[in-house]
Amino acid sequence: SITGEQYRPNFHFTPKTGWMNDPNGMVFYEGEYHLFYQFYPDDNVWGPMHWGHAVSKDIIRWEHLPIALYPDELGYIFSGSAVIDWENTSGFGTKKNSPMVAIFTYHSMEGEKAGTIDFQTQGIAYSIDKGRTWIKYQNNPVITNPGIKDFRDPKVFWYAKENKWIMSLAVKNHIAFYSSKDLKSWKLEGQFGADNGSHDGVWECPDLFPLIDQNGVEKWVLLVSINPGGPQGGSATQYFIGDFDGNTFTTSEKEIKWLDYGADNYAGITFSDIPENDGRRLFMGWLSNWQYAREVPTYSWRSAMTIPRELTLQETENGYIVNSIPVEELQSILSKGIIEKNNEFEVLAATYLLEIDKITSEAFSINLANRLNEVLKISVIEDKLFVDRKLAGIGSFNDVFPAIHEVPLNGIRIHKIEVFVDKASIEIFINNGERVITELVFPNEPYKSISISGDAELVTIYPIDSISEN
Ligand code: FRU
Repeated sequence: SITGEQYRPNFHFTPKTGWMNDPNGMVFYEGEYHLFYQFYPDDNVWGPMHWGHAVSKDIIRWEHLPIALYPDELGYIFSGSAVIDWENTSGFGTKKNSPMVAIFTYHSMEGEKAGTIDFQTQGIAYSIDKGRTWIKYQNNPVITNPGIKDFRDPKVFWYAKENKWIMSLAVKNHIAFYSSKDLKSWKLEGQFGADNGSHDGVWECPDLFPLIDQNGVEKWVLLVSINPGGPQGGSATQYFIGDFDGNTFTTSEKEIKWLDYGADNYAGITFSDIPENDGRRLFMGWLSNWQYAREVPTYSWRSAMTIPRELTLQETENGYIVNSIPVEELQSILSKGIIEKNNEFEVLAATYLLEIDKITSEAFSINLANRLNEVLKISVIEDKLFVDRKLAGIGSFNDVFPAIHEVPLNGIRIHKIEVFVDKASIEIFINNGERVITELVFPNEPYKSISISGDAELVTIYPIDSISEN
């Protein structure tokens, strides 16, 4: 249809109407996951940015809330983070009623129009009613621009060891770290990355956090989104594993690592303030790519978030990697599994999880097709995985969209493949998240015919119903 509603996902977050890009300010507080997001309510393409808002009790089913932050005379509200200021270091609340504080980038349109380069600054806002209403700090901006055009996307966490807040900020081609005692005055600490990782595009949306590997060793992980320059072209998120000393991040790693090897997972960051007794590091990304996000065939709204994932650290023979695992809460939306005995079969549901376990052959392929002979092909050949969406559905809206995407496996021996199939996306998880490939697809009918070639002992389909309140 002309609205594109047939592509409204069953189990991914979307705005009801309007344009969405990056997830922002994801934070957990008093039993609620908060998702804020880059939002332009008045059109289905990017425009004056607001922070849209939704909450969830289970990180799966979202309730839409009113817009949290509107643009003002300092500019549009670009990406950033939110924290619970438990000790009320900011003075915006009390210790008993700790404020939720948002830290974001102001993008001044006047500055941009005037042709200056200092139009991005950092601002803060707070809420003392569980994120329902927001008050901007009267002395914004809290970090002024040092004369660098790309200066944005603050991600803040409490560094308990030294009793201070740490902000990671994307500054053109590197990450700058700032510290603060009160979230209002910030001091530049170290910088990282001018000589590390991929520099084929601008650095955006950093996130720094510790993870503990399977042997109990703690390492710091730094996520950095980059656009363009991703492994499939356009935008993607790279990561680094190293150490943080309270001032700066360092790593001895040389190779470039991608959090997701698909074309459509960008600007993702992790939730703040997940309770210690949970302890997971939870992630969501924007399920699109700047190459064609504005042109995809949905019209009443544009874009979705990825399914939430848990990030874990694994030490392997080839060094450390960050694994992405679908969060366990997703179990709650899976219908009873249907075990498939044949290599070719039909599924009744339009959206589902296809789980292929105990794979014993090295070469392997999966075709997802519909009655119109549109087919999405996933194949594993000689240490590479390919996703071919050339004939997978509508693709003519942008030249680069219909393509074969190649993913290096670096010796990973595949024993399990999970594919989450929604109305307009597939998310492929290899083994326990050792590789993830997230891709948009726009079939004219759901993929209900599956054919598999290769040997696997257990193939199961879990139908997935709609979680949307839309
Ligand atoms: C990433 C990004 C951020 C910026 C926001 C603007 O997709 O470009 O760097 O803050 O989007 O909407």
